[in-house]
Amino acid sequence: MRKWWHNSVVYQIYPRSFNDSNGDGVGDLRGIIQKLDYIAQLGADVIWLSPVYQSPMDDNGYDISDYLAISPEFGTMQDMDELIAQANSRGIKIVMDLVANHTSDEHPWFIESQSSKDNPKRDWYIWKDPKEDGSEPNNWESFFKPKAWTYDEDSGQYYLHLFSNKQPDLNWANPEVREAIYQMMRFWLDKGVGGFRMDTINMIGKPADFPDATIFDSGVAGWEHWANNDLCHQYLREMNQQVLKDYDVLTVGETPFTTTLDGRYYSHPDRKEISMIFQFEHVSIDREEHNAVAKPFDLVQYKEIMSRWQNDLYQKGWNSVYWSNHDQPRTVSRYGNDNDQYRVISAKMLGTVLHLMSGTPYVYQGEEIGMTNKQFTSIDEFNDLMAKFHYQKLMDKGVKPQEALDFLNRYSRDHARVPMQWQDSENAGFTDGKPWLPLNDNYATINAQQAVGDQQSIYHHYRKLIELRKSGEYGDVIVYGRYTLLDPDDSEVYAYLRCFHGKQLLIVANFSEAVVERQYQGELGLVVLNNYDLDPSNLSSITLQPYQALVIELKGGD
Ligand code: GLC
Ligand code: CA
Repeated sequence: MRKWWHNSVVYQIYPRSFNDSNGDGVGDLRGIIQKLDYIAQLGADVIWLSPVYQSPMDDNGYDISDYLAISPEFGTMQDMDELIAQANSRGIKIVMDLVANHTSDEHPWFIESQSSKDNPKRDWYIWKDPKEDGSEPNNWESFFKPKAWTYDEDSGQYYLHLFSNKQPDLNWANPEVREAIYQMMRFWLDKGVGGFRMDTINMIGKPADFPDATIFDSGVAGWEHWANNDLCHQYLREMNQQVLKDYDVLTVGETPFTTTLDGRYYSHPDRKEISMIFQFEHVSIDREEHNAVAKPFDLVQYKEIMSRWQNDLYQKGWNSVYWSNHDQPRTVSRYGNDNDQYRVISAKMLGTVLHLMSGTPYVYQGEEIGMTNKQFTSIDEFNDLMAKFHYQKLMDKGVKPQEALDFLNRYSRDHARVPMQWQDSENAGFTDGKPWLPLNDNYATINAQQAVGDQQSIYHHYRKLIELRKSGEYGDVIVYGRYTLLDPDDSEVYAYLRCFHGKQLLIVANFSEAVVERQYQGELGLVVLNNYDLDPSNLSSITLQPYQALVIELKGGD
């Protein structure tokens, strides 16, 4: 059955860094309202809003102290209502970030829970006695701290936090907790939001016996126990039954450590869980994040991963496709080439590869204008708690400070959080005040005003990609067509076919700086999209310029 979100394109906003309307250096809701036309013109029809709720901002809003209030930094509930209404009037739905694996330690629920062992909310979080020697209840690690447990002197117990110690995990085994979350979800859905992006949702089920971790060489120790378990699926089906089934919404789960089989469990419509998930395999090719280890990007591996997800979920679930988000470095710096010669062309190539796939594409703010990683010169310039954690880890391992800095300059989450570049004027038009995180000084050339005014820009290329997905002519083949990878071992070119009811598209993308020649079966027809002016369509073999990407219709499809 077709769903409205099958041909949607989602634009992600990280509110702190998007647009500041009142000069305090922090982006806000009124700032977003001012830019709705920019997003509408791009063609995105959904905005995923990173958290704007009340929060002490230990993790920039992913630590919520009141789910039903807006952080004063971002505005008021009235601003939020206006944002929803103004977006809806442009045909754009607002998807909220649902952070429900944990709250802030400043949430009244946790304050009560911590206050005494017999408080009625004690069991809303996960409290455990120390082992006999006084150490942690088990050996689990946290994403942001060496250990997943923090000791509470007053009660003599530890509480669990898979993230920072200011992000205690809720106890989903307690039905009152689940009901409180469902109620909060209904509050937002009744306001007219278009769905939820569910933060770390595959971690909500914790096995009752809290066993020790046994896997230490891939990711945060303990994940084999708390990621994608039966409990998690049970809770999601209950959530669907209690809340989601009554609303026609988009739901996307953030799910690291996930296979395509897990992906089917979450997103197969018959399972009645959620619409789709964010898998993490492709963003793990070029590094082992938890251990802060860099690895080379391998195109053959990238093709294998993306193709497996495209095929395994075909008619058995639904994919999300993304290059980046607020936790990832900038797309063009990471996968393309951000030098002056190739930045624009390679960013368009990457956009083409992704947007011709099946699934719902996500565009992260600034990706559509090819924003690049910023070069940080000292650890003090970073804001993100994870950057600081990784730096410390590398120091403890005896890595030289410069090498640790090099690692962060490639992978830090702060790259995505450097403010949006709107214009070539001071602070890129992001703020009239002092930006909370310094800008990248290339905003004089890379900015939205330039991109909107230049028909050859990355922005207009993305606009065309989105238009194609929504077009009568190519929409069905892009959204619903069968996917076939060509030449899996080709380490320079990514080529694949999309076929639907006799219509066939060939997508060919050169990931290298070399001019290469390739031949594919089938008679080339119309060139639907090209990131160069050079048109190779009447050649029997295709010559690809550096980072060239083509979408070509094949004659006489299946
Ligand atoms: C998710 C968010 C990330 C946050 C973490 C803890 O991974 O995307 O930004 O730090 O969860 O909530
Ligand atoms: Ca502001």
